[in-house]
Amino acid sequence: MADKVYKDYFFDEPAYDYHDGGYVPLVEPDVPQSKLGVPPMLKPDKEEGNDVYYTITAQAGETQIMPGAKTKTWGYNGTLLGQTVLYKDGQHVHVTLKNELPELTTFHWHGLNVSGPIVDGGCHAPVYPGETKHIDFTVNQHAAMTWLHAHPCPSTAEQVWHGLAGVVYIEDKHEATLNLPRNYGVDDIPVVLQDRRFHENNQWDYQADYDPDGVAGPTAMIDGTVNAYFDVTTQRVRLRFLDGANRREWRLHFSDDLEFVQIAGDGSLLPDAVHMTKLMLTCAERAEVVVDFSNYKAGDVVTLYTDDVPILRFRIHDFAKNDTPLPEHLFDVHAPKVEPGTPVRKIVMSGMDESVAIDGKKFAMQRIDAEQPVGQAQYWDVTNSNDKPGMVHPFHCHGTQFLVLSRNGKAPYPNEHGFKDTVGVNPGETVRILVRFDLPGVYMYHCHIIEHEDGGMMAQIEAYEADKPRPKYKLMDMDTLMHALSEERGIPESELWMGGMESYAKMGMKM
Ligand code: C2O
Ligand code: CU
Ligand code: CU
Repeated sequence: MADKVYKDYFFDEPAYDYHDGGYVPLVEPDVPQSKLGVPPMLKPDKEEGNDVYYTITAQAGETQIMPGAKTKTWGYNGTLLGQTVLYKDGQHVHVTLKNELPELTTFHWHGLNVSGPIVDGGCHAPVYPGETKHIDFTVNQHAAMTWLHAHPCPSTAEQVWHGLAGVVYIEDKHEATLNLPRNYGVDDIPVVLQDRRFHENNQWDYQADYDPDGVAGPTAMIDGTVNAYFDVTTQRVRLRFLDGANRREWRLHFSDDLEFVQIAGDGSLLPDAVHMTKLMLTCAERAEVVVDFSNYKAGDVVTLYTDDVPILRFRIHDFAKNDTPLPEHLFDVHAPKVEPGTPVRKIVMSGMDESVAIDGKKFAMQRIDAEQPVGQAQYWDVTNSNDKPGMVHPFHCHGTQFLVLSRNGKAPYPNEHGFKDTVGVNPGETVRILVRFDLPGVYMYHCHIIEHEDGGMMAQIEAYEADKPRPKYKLMDMDTLMHALSEERGIPESELWMGGMESYAKMGMKM
């Protein structure tokens, strides 16, 4: 047994999302339980030595989520969310990106150490309806769960709400040596946490639900399943949580205050296992935990809650006893060195509703806001300037995995000592992170409350090779995007509605 078991959430309670004026409480749905929709593993098109080939198709369809009418949904290689993609460290990956949706989208690899602005699939890399594009890259990072989601500005939030979010596993040699559950679908389960509002005929209506501080719904949807259960057939189960919600925070705990062990965060294993009974995730964050059901017997049910709402039930079956110890030490973090005299980058996330901004500015697609040499580690001081009580802004940067060094000068939370790509910044707080880019490119960084991102709380940085001429990046512009969308939707440009655009329009500006 571990000497220390954490029994509280690490974040500041006055900043929890339920204090928002627009907070939508979760309500336990009055529908029969359904088996958790664990996504299938995506099969590669082919594998040749170190090269692997995948096709990812963004498509529209209908999904039986609620009893009665099917819901119109979008997904990757399926009608809702995605099939799980598996990449191995060192592998050379070729991906065919197909867009079978009625409108343009992008394929963003959140947490992947790949170059922007095209391969990483931010807003500069649209794939138009009916179009196919190819990308390739070499996987170069630690074992983790990352994810894939749509990122077309400023309708990222709306497309994710439609269902464009999938899970991406990264494997490496080190993680494979540890005694951890990794039998996919049996004792290693991705758990995508989302919420929706089902309107008439079980349909989603993003526009009707729009809130510039983040769209939420009263019904929890876990791996695309409402009122889900999972059949436990092994003593230990590894749950890989992703906060895939547009705005909602998840404060997770089990019935009986069952203790569990966090082993990984966004971008790597944790250096040491963290024993806890409560875990809070902000938008886009991931946490892998191992739950040990040895105190239960066949027929028992263990419930996972967020706050006091049950969201997933574990039905215990007979399992073989497994008392091999779990590793307490998991991973050695090698922090990149910072050269003395390297300036500290200051980033301020400010405002609420339509006024959200980074460093006092709203996002502009063709403006590069900052630059940093490739391979050079820098401190970034990321501040949330909202007064208390305010909201936590989850800060995310593309194309890198960073280390969290401090919160207002104090030690980071016990479960953020591994590599991360998203960090929740409390109101009035400055979080110091250590950032290095390994590849040249243009990378977006933003709040991951997706409506804040679409609303302009986003900027971009160019990572450049100091000893080489700078490439000219082709950056997308709003006129081209608006023109395409107006044709695809058959609506004049002046009448296009997109969540993020409302924010700009109310501030009297264009993207
Ligand atoms: Cu999840 Cu710009 O990213
Ligand atoms: Cu990202
Ligand atoms: Cu925010």
